[in-house]
Amino acid sequence: MDLIKDFKQAGQEHVFKFFDKLGKPEQAELLKQLEQVDLSELERLNNELVFNGGTAEKNINFSELKPAPYQALPKDKDADPAWAEAKNIGEKAIRDGRLAVFVVAGGQGTRLGFNAPKGCYKVTPVKQKSLFQVFAEKILSASKKYGVRIPWLVMTSQVNDADTRRFFSENSFFGLDKDDVIFFSQGLMPAVDKNGKIILESKGKIAMTPDGHGGCLRAMCRSGALDELKKRGIDCISYFQVDNPLVNIIDPYFLGFHILGKSEMSSKMIPKAYPLEKVGHFCISDGKLTVVEYSDLPAQYQQMLDDSGKLKFIAGSVAIHILDRDFVERLGRKGSELRLPFHRADKKIPYADENGNTVKPDKPNGIKFEMFVFDALPMAKSPVIIEGFRGDEFSPVKNAEGVDSPLTCRNDQKKQFARWFKSAGVDIPLGENAVPLLDIEISPLFASNEEDFVKKWGNLNPKPEIRNGLYL
Ligand code: UTP
Repeated sequence: MDLIKDFKQAGQEHVFKFFDKLGKPEQAELLKQLEQVDLSELERLNNELVFNGGTAEKNINFSELKPAPYQALPKDKDADPAWAEAKNIGEKAIRDGRLAVFVVAGGQGTRLGFNAPKGCYKVTPVKQKSLFQVFAEKILSASKKYGVRIPWLVMTSQVNDADTRRFFSENSFFGLDKDDVIFFSQGLMPAVDKNGKIILESKGKIAMTPDGHGGCLRAMCRSGALDELKKRGIDCISYFQVDNPLVNIIDPYFLGFHILGKSEMSSKMIPKAYPLEKVGHFCISDGKLTVVEYSDLPAQYQQMLDDSGKLKFIAGSVAIHILDRDFVERLGRKGSELRLPFHRADKKIPYADENGNTVKPDKPNGIKFEMFVFDALPMAKSPVIIEGFRGDEFSPVKNAEGVDSPLTCRNDQKKQFARWFKSAGVDIPLGENAVPLLDIEISPLFASNEEDFVKKWGNLNPKPEIRNGLYL
């Protein structure tokens, strides 16, 4: 069999160690899995990232590194000519049906430790809505406001695809037209041990892990999702992560700047909350816009001040982008000359012992290969960055406790709602760290930004009592 020969030639024949002991269906399953492995890509990654300890990954000349320029957030966006123009252009593009939204939801969510796709996690303070429901309602609200269908691409992985689809259908797609929700799975990569050998997870299965959020570019092309967007005349894709319910996924200002700048990929930056905050940094390296991760930027640079005493590298990346459809095609098409680099991550990967029994290791024993979507920025023509306000953009659920946890996220949602109430002239009592003492929630179906909230609230007659559990 050719496959066996190919694996032998690649020095990976150990994956057949238990082959003769498997029944016919298990053998077929294993062969199907092995067919997905691109052995030449694996050889390249082993050479680049495993055999030399991963040192080929980053080659940054820190002394030459510059902070990336960005469109700063004015006090009053609508009074600022550039922002007002962007809003007009962005709103027209939305009305013209040029926008799709795109959530990457193929991650494993190991830090949260939730036993289902992360998008099913309940996050809102009063109604306990899931992340997926919050996004669906933002889409519904914008569709109504702009009188247009806004398709939603949902990237899953083979691990959580069936559960994700089931969740949507059990919840009647949260009121969306199911033809406007386009699911597809990202790719998987084999995990290897420190010698570059594919890890056998059990007698008839190799360890395969999702290829990172950057895998979305290939997956959009391969799955036909991109063709579907083309068919619908959509050229702008609003990209966001599944763990952040605050994200403003249909933002006319951001879209307007992206279009005006003829940008192939645009990003939102949030000023870092403190010098060593664990976010990527937007920088110019070798003349190109690049995100340098906190783990790659020496602390002295993370803390460096500019002449005015502000943090020099202040622009934090929070994984909010707009992608141009043709750019995705250029990078994600099979055989494309441009491609995202892979990174190595050392992880605990379950493996088969001598007898073929699966063992869960208690320390990292293997290497996972992942692509990051922000690595597309240096390849994009005319990339644009605009500043966002953290309180209206970013509060992810990453960890079970502590920073970026369900509790901090719920508090940040309540703070956002209280701010909107304040703009409408209503004071919500605040406690420690300005967290509202009342559980309150504003549905995106009522208003999905401060301006719309103030208008809607003003017109509400009679107005509801401000109390614990208030839900609008
Ligand atoms: P994270 O980096 O937080 O990873 O993903 P994760 O897998 O969800 O969580 P941990 O690290 O295991 O705790 C950021 C975003 O990228 C998506 C996630 O679903 C999340 O929206 N992602 C990540 C993918 O879609 N695919 C991947 O392979 C990795």
